[in-house]
Amino acid sequence: MKAIVQDVYGSADVLELRDIARPGPRDGEVLIRVRAAGVDQGVWHLMAGLPYLIRLFGYGLKKPKVPVRGREVAGVVEAVGGGVTRFAPGDEVFGTCEGSFAEYACAEEDKAARKPGGLSFEEAAAAPISGVTALQAVRDAGQVTVGQKVLVLGAGGGVGSFAVQLAKAFGADVTGVCSTGKVELVRSLGADAVIDYTTTDIAGAGKLYDVILDTAGNRPLSLLRRLLVPKGTLVIIGGENGGKLTGGFQRSLGAPLASLFLGPEVQGACRQGNAPGSRGPGIADGRRQREARGGQGLSPCRSAGRHPVPP
Ligand SMILES: NC(=O)c1ccc[n+]([C@@H]2O[C@H](COP(=O)([O-])OP(=O)(O)OC[C@H]3O[C@@H](n4cnc5c(N)ncnc54)[C@H](OP(=O)(O)O)[C@@H]3O)[C@@H](O)[C@H]2O)c1
Repeated sequence: MKAIVQDVYGSADVLELRDIARPGPRDGEVLIRVRAAGVDQGVWHLMAGLPYLIRLFGYGLKKPKVPVRGREVAGVVEAVGGGVTRFAPGDEVFGTCEGSFAEYACAEEDKAARKPGGLSFEEAAAAPISGVTALQAVRDAGQVTVGQKVLVLGAGGGVGSFAVQLAKAFGADVTGVCSTGKVELVRSLGADAVIDYTTTDIAGAGKLYDVILDTAGNRPLSLLRRLLVPKGTLVIIGGENGGKLTGGFQRSLGAPLASLFLGPEVQGACRQGNAPGSRGPGIADGRRQREARGGQGLSPCRSAGRHPVPP
């Protein structure tokens, strides 16, 4: 089969279209004939091997462990491995896998879901990573509820655009932050207010938020803390400007530490799998951690494992 393959980390020049052996589904996996594949920020991180931190997370120290790029897939089930009960050949599915830039890719059964009939393969392939990351951030980490004020930084981006819609669906009053060209898009996604960060200071209006979802990752934790109500929650999803060693991930790592010095509004719990390019969001989960500790103290890092795509 044809696939986009790389032997070394580097820029897009390292990617080659090659003929490689078609994978076979192992127990618990489905083999998918790929109709569309998504590109999220993580694909770039895994191609480049940056930040270096991700290499320590099992993706390959000197070269990518999985040579075929692409993690989001939509297509038709070609075959199923032993023990698979939810899918059969011919089913239209979407989900996450390793190596979707190929004619065929294998996905674990619980990382795939039936493609809704109203979605094209292209639309479905763009949803799994950004959509699930946003869902985990809004529902699980932010625990957004009706009437809360929610600020979404990066509201016009992959994760942020899902987060705006999900926070609205959970009944929140949503303010989206984006650049000028995306203001109308973010409004059309349901945001009650939109701040153009190129012209307006996000702290300028003096509004405080119950939950801040940060996908842009370039504002200091101390500033975000000042924008939270006393028992607010900051959810750090990502960021791209932390340098080659840690990328934007240093803020997720730093959140628990920051909570120690900055006070209870910014408490943190980092989840395994939350490095840029990995499958889970980086989360500073203030409220739940604070409640679990009775309002004070520093929480340890927790492991949430790999997340499933939505049923
Ligand atoms: N851990 C995970 O599982 C996971 C999963 C997905 C993503 N992530 C991470 O989360 C981050 C976002 O991912 P993404 O796919 O949503 O990326 P994206 O599509 O590039 O979106 C990032 C957004 O940040 C916005 N932004 C840049 N500077 C800003 C500023 N000063 N104020 C407000 N917004 C600003 C950009 O808005 P404009 O275009 O309007 O300038 C852009 O839309 C990345 O670092 C990614 O690696 C992590």
